[in-house]
Amino acid sequence: MNRLLQLGLLLTLVATVHAQVQHDFWPGRERVIPHVSGDEMWSGTYKNWKDSEAVKKSMAAGMMSRDINFKDFRWLEKSFDGELKVDMGREVFHRKSSNGRSCATCHGENGEKLKGWYATQPRFSAKANRVIVAATQISICAKEHLSEDWPENTRNNSLLDMYLAYLSDGRDVDIDVTSGPMKEAYEKGRDLFFKRTGHFHFACASCHTGVTTQSYLRGQRPSTFFGDAAHYPIYHFPYRLPGDDVEDIFTLQHQIKSCQMLSRMLPGVEGSRTLTAIEVFLKASANGYKMSIPTQEYNMSTGYLLRDGL
Ligand code: HEC
Ligand code: HEC
Repeated sequence: MNRLLQLGLLLTLVATVHAQVQHDFWPGRERVIPHVSGDEMWSGTYKNWKDSEAVKKSMAAGMMSRDINFKDFRWLEKSFDGELKVDMGREVFHRKSSNGRSCATCHGENGEKLKGWYATQPRFSAKANRVIVAATQISICAKEHLSEDWPENTRNNSLLDMYLAYLSDGRDVDIDVTSGPMKEAYEKGRDLFFKRTGHFHFACASCHTGVTTQSYLRGQRPSTFFGDAAHYPIYHFPYRLPGDDVEDIFTLQHQIKSCQMLSRMLPGVEGSRTLTAIEVFLKASANGYKMSIPTQEYNMSTGYLLRDGL
C-alpha cells in the first residue's frame, strides 16, 4: 500500500513537471502570420515603420523610437563601421585558397550570382538534406571547394555572411514557409519562440511581444519579432559573447544565442536545427520587408535617449 502511494505520488510529480516543461507557452502563438504586416495584431505600430518613408514621417511627427518599433535605427544610421565589415567580407570572398580558387571563382567577381540570395534564406538544401542558414552554406562551400575550415560562428564565416547579406541590400525578404520542411521548421521555430524555458522561465515572446516592446528594459529596447531579421547580420561593437572571434558581427544565429544567454536559457549551437528553426520563424516574420545592410546594434546609438527625452 505504502509502495502504491509512493508510486502514485511519483507519477503525479512526473506528470506535473511534464506539464510544466511541455506545455507552458507564452500566449498568442495562434495569432502569428509569416509576414511583416502580422505586427499589426501585436504592437499595432506597423503603419509607423512599414517602409523608410513611413519611418521618416513618424520621426518628423515626433514619435518615439518605441512607436516605430526601433526601426528608425535600421534605416537612418547606415554609414558607420559596418561598412568596413562589408569591405573585409568582400576581401575574404576574393581571397585565394591553396587550390587557387576563391568564392568569386564560382560565384562571380562581385558575387553577382548571389545577388538577392540572402533575402531568401534560410532554405531547404538538397545537399545537406535539411533546412540550413547562410552560415551553414558558407561553411559547406568553404570546406568542399576551398578546403577551408570556416564553420558557423567563426571570423571568416561571419565576414562572408555580412558580405552576402549586403548583396541583398534593398531586397524584400521572401521565404516560403507554406509547405514541406520549411513549414515544419517555421512551426518548430514559432513554438520554440513562445515556449517558456530556462532559469527565469522566460520565452523569447516574454520580451518580444506585449508591454516590454512599448517600454525600455533597463535602457535596452526589445522590439516585436516582426521585421528585425531583415537587418541581419548587424555590427555590434563592442559587445561580445565569451569566446567570440567574429569581428563584432552578430549574425541572426549569434543574436538568438545572445538572447538565450541574456535570459538564462540553455544557449543553442549556431547552425543547429533548433537555432535554424528559430531563424526561419524570425525571417518569415520579416517577409515583405526590405533588407537594410549593413546596420548596427541600436543600443550603440545614444541618439534615442535624447530624442525620446530620457
Ligand atoms: C568550385 C566552385 C565553388 C566555390 C569555390 C565556392 N562555391 Fe559556393 N557553390 C558551388 C556550387 C556547385 C553550389 C551549389 C551546390 C551547393 O549548394 O553546395 C554552391 C552554392 C553556394 C551558395 C548557395 C547558392 C544558391 O543558389 O543556393 C552560396 C551562398 C555559396 N555557394 C557561397 C559560397 C562562398 C561564400 C564560397 C567561398 C567560401 C563559395 N561558395 C565557394 C560552388 C562553389
Ligand atoms: C529578457 C528579455 C528578452 C528575452 C527573453 C529575449 N530577448 Fe531578444 N532582445 C532583448 C533585448 C533587450 C534586445 C535588444 C537589445 C540588445 O540586443 O541588447 C533583444 C534583441 C533581439 C533581437 C534583435 C532585434 C534587433 O532589431 O536587433 C532578436 C532577433 C531577438 N532579440 C531574438 C530573441 C529570441 C529568438 C529570443 C529567445 C531565444 C529572445 N530574443 C529572448 C530581450 C530579450
